[in-house]
Amino acid sequence: MTPKKFTNPRAKHNFQGRPCSVAGVGSYVPSRVLTNADLEKMVETSDDWILTRTGIRERRIAAEGEFTSDMAAMASQRAMAMAGVTAEQIDLIIVATITPDMPFPNTACLVQRKLGAKRAAAFDVEAACSGFIYALEIGQQFITSRTYNTVLVIGAEKLSTIVDWTDRNTCVLFGDGAGAAILQNRENSHGLLTAVMGADGNNADLLFMPGGGSQCPATADSVAARQHYLRMTGKETFKNAVQAMYGAAKEALKQCDLDISQIKCIIPHQANQRIIDAVGDRLGAKPEQLFVNLDRYGNTSAASVAIALDEAVTSGRIQRGDLVLIVAFGAGLTWGAAVIEW
Ligand code: ACO
Repeated sequence: MTPKKFTNPRAKHNFQGRPCSVAGVGSYVPSRVLTNADLEKMVETSDDWILTRTGIRERRIAAEGEFTSDMAAMASQRAMAMAGVTAEQIDLIIVATITPDMPFPNTACLVQRKLGAKRAAAFDVEAACSGFIYALEIGQQFITSRTYNTVLVIGAEKLSTIVDWTDRNTCVLFGDGAGAAILQNRENSHGLLTAVMGADGNNADLLFMPGGGSQCPATADSVAARQHYLRMTGKETFKNAVQAMYGAAKEALKQCDLDISQIKCIIPHQANQRIIDAVGDRLGAKPEQLFVNLDRYGNTSAASVAIALDEAVTSGRIQRGDLVLIVAFGAGLTWGAAVIEW
């Protein structure tokens, strides 16, 4: 890949140290499609309710033997191909996920094995739907500090394993998939201009999975009580999502001295079309600035903005030199935003 020039002189680079470029992106979604019509046969719902309340038409569901690490590895190989990076070059792998293959070892180690990235250190980050932005910022720190030259950042989820398929309040919302990015320092280039992260543990109960941890280990009773499925208070989560995504996006823009009109493409977490529209409105963005693929994939949590970023790049919606704002919100509560010069 030829080095790119920093083409937006008004945008301020907010990091200490050498610049961190996004050298390549990639994504993967499973082939099985679950439509709203399919869900009508599983719970008391309708295509009309799902579409008008969420904007989702269909979502992808991983095959039985297809795990989070498999989807992560597929997305990674595509990002590595775009960046022209081999497995041996990767110094660090960070996987953001709330659906690891198993409690331990971490999914990043399983991805390392699948890629043959023998030199890489590997760990997971758990920040729910904000996970990819958290991981991006962590990865960026290793590049700007000159600790590592090549970092692979992944958001990957097999949410279909923690969705209660008898609960219409949640089962219509989620899907499976993975997205990845290769971070490097490239001559004369800027990628990540800033990243902000935030959290509010006081609202941890709005969206959580009670079973499977040290508080409620798996027992026959915990399984019978359906504690190994996610639970969400939708309305409160919605309100917090709009507020947190707006706040994080504003802060990221401020740190780069940018106005929303200078952003070519806004990539919001794909949870609900009404959340995306409300955040866009508050930011003063035009609808054409917002990237949406929620209708096809639903909410893929940590994979959401990573898949959308890849689709925006590969579809030509984002061109070299364009400014991109990514913003997410999730369980924790957590939130984050980043500005990338592509
Ligand atoms: N089909 C039909 N009816 C339904 C369905 C369904 N699938 N789901 C809920 N309903 C019913 C409810 O039972 C309720 O009926 P009632 O009034 O008789 O009790 C009615 O529809 C309205 O429910 P509300 O909760 O008021 O619907 P709302 O407009 O708030 O939409 C939704 C619900 C889509 C969940 C919304 O609140 C939302 O998107 N919340 C945010 C989710 C989110 O952003 N999550 C992000 C983080 S995800 C992560 O971190 C993993």
